[in-house]
Amino acid sequence: MIAAEAPQEQGARIVQLENVQVRFGKGEDTFLALDKTNLVVRNGDFVAMVGPSGCGKSTILKLVAGLARPTEGVVFVAGREVGAEKVGIGMAFQNPTMLPWLTIRQNIMLPLKIVKPYADTFNRDKHTVFRDKAEALLAKVGLTGFGDRRPWELSGGMLQRANLCRALIHSPKLLMLDEPFGALDQFTREELWSVLQDLWMETKPTVFFVTHDLREAAFLANRILVMSARPGRVTDDRHVDFARPRTLETTFETGFTDLTNDLRRMIFAARQGKETTV
Ligand SMILES: Nc1ncnc2c1ncn2[C@@H]1O[C@H](COP(=O)(O)OP(=O)(O)OP(=O)(O)O)[C@@H](O)[C@H]1O
Ligand SMILES: [Mg+2]
Repeated sequence: MIAAEAPQEQGARIVQLENVQVRFGKGEDTFLALDKTNLVVRNGDFVAMVGPSGCGKSTILKLVAGLARPTEGVVFVAGREVGAEKVGIGMAFQNPTMLPWLTIRQNIMLPLKIVKPYADTFNRDKHTVFRDKAEALLAKVGLTGFGDRRPWELSGGMLQRANLCRALIHSPKLLMLDEPFGALDQFTREELWSVLQDLWMETKPTVFFVTHDLREAAFLANRILVMSARPGRVTDDRHVDFARPRTLETTFETGFTDLTNDLRRMIFAARQGKETTV
């Protein structure tokens, strides 16, 4: 997950990719992973990115996090070019990667130990305000009473909940999630959709996430970016305006199934090397 701490107006551009190209490898072995990629994520957006495997979704998240550099083009986060100035970041991948020697609460509080301004008062506040903040988040995701447990004592679904708490502990303006619920069974995954939706509705952070699950994208997002493969590019930008809070009932509505079918057709065509807009 990414955290851009600078306060932003509603609707301001938090993430912007301008004509971005990413080429990997050297000499004759170069490979164009992303080409002419343009996208904007605005403050308060809940954006899902979907597309065939290998089309460059994780690469885009890494560009925004400053973990990868564009070969051409520019990436802006909170109005600043990535790399030009440090923007506070954090990122969560599919696997929660909790430190096994720390308790769940200590794992959740880790960003506060690292990210300014929290780091300055960490030793003073870790037993009071920060601990309370961690407990409040644990309660929100249904993990009250698990703060003193070690990561290996929790199930995969519980770890993903704790992972969300860790990503939110420093009140980031921008959350970036790469297939956050990928390793979970369908029931736990659907439960966590509601947890994430509730958290978003409460504080409206900007969320930019990658998923292979089209129902997940349609349930959670306000916008869905569809990508083509080889080289990757954004080929469609869908607005999703089902009323919130969305529930599992929403997923049975005709509009919802029509949308997921459209997305499926687009991704199928992209896998075949054909582009289509529906
Ligand atoms: N550091 C790297 N060096 C060389 N090639 C890379 C590197 N990172 C990614 N790639 C290649 O770039 C392409 C896009 O990779 P990326 O991980 O962004 O895909 P993705 O859309 O996230 O795929 P998936 O859905 O399978 O996670 C892939 O072909 C991958 O092999
Ligand atoms: Mg990926």
